[in-house]
Amino acid sequence: MITVYHSEHVQAYVQALGSALPGHRVVHTMLKPQTATRYAVVWNPPPGFFTGLTDLQAVFVLGAGVDRLVAREDLPAHIPIYRLSDAGMAEQMIEYARYGVLHWQRSFDLYRNQQQQRQWQVQPDRRKQDTRVSVLGLGEMGGRVATALAAEGYQVNGFSRSARSLSAVTCVHGESALDEMLAHTDVLINMLPLTPATRSLLDGARLARLPAGAALIHAGRGEQLDENALLTALDSGALRFALLDVFSLEPLAKTHPLWVHPHALITPHSAAQTLISAAVLQISARIKALELGQSISGKVERARAY
Ligand code: GLV
Repeated sequence: MITVYHSEHVQAYVQALGSALPGHRVVHTMLKPQTATRYAVVWNPPPGFFTGLTDLQAVFVLGAGVDRLVAREDLPAHIPIYRLSDAGMAEQMIEYARYGVLHWQRSFDLYRNQQQQRQWQVQPDRRKQDTRVSVLGLGEMGGRVATALAAEGYQVNGFSRSARSLSAVTCVHGESALDEMLAHTDVLINMLPLTPATRSLLDGARLARLPAGAALIHAGRGEQLDENALLTALDSGALRFALLDVFSLEPLAKTHPLWVHPHALITPHSAAQTLISAAVLQISARIKALELGQSISGKVERARAY
């Protein structure tokens, strides 16, 4: 039995998984799965969801980030968790990042505010090759974003937990390298997974290392950024612009000052959406392989939390 939990698209997932895996019973639940559940296909299931599932063989996450699953007490450590590998999300992330970089590079943020004042004033030109973009996280999302922007002609640096090598990207790792990189960054793009090491990474001190007038594109997880420090930096003009997709509390509270900040652009955790058909194709192929006793990719390393 395959049990699906998703707060919005559950019927579509059940139907698509059912057609892709005709030998399996695919059901959904909003509460407690039946104990016959062999595979769970989930996005943010409620606490206690996995308790007592003695037949459970594997959990498939309907997304790229697994931060909400790895620390759960109801999911025994021996049950493997698999996350989606790309599944159409990297391309969306590239578009999102490209939009944010262009917004800053071509001064759309300044022109938006000028328009409000009916102010006709041309901003200085800036070329791609003179625009320093730094990507935090060089995994399936960040790695693709970094190489795509480098191929377009931007100066791209990348930071990751362990050493990486990517075409046309200057890759660094380690905390001191991060501080050094920030000091030479015009547009900082955060694509890191949420782990104990990345929680609160973008604090006031790190934001202050960015050159005056830099920009932030934040599409990792809300808990990585000190939103108050961000507001202070945006208010003072130390940071010129922020494109924000993730927040420490989602949905962002109606009263949150970021909603109306003239230098912030807000999207509702929509930078890279899980595409149902791509996700089902990947998960059904993996379930078939597991049933044949084959090993499959996408397994989360619980110790590193992604
Ligand atoms: C979305 O944030 C995801 O992790 O897929």
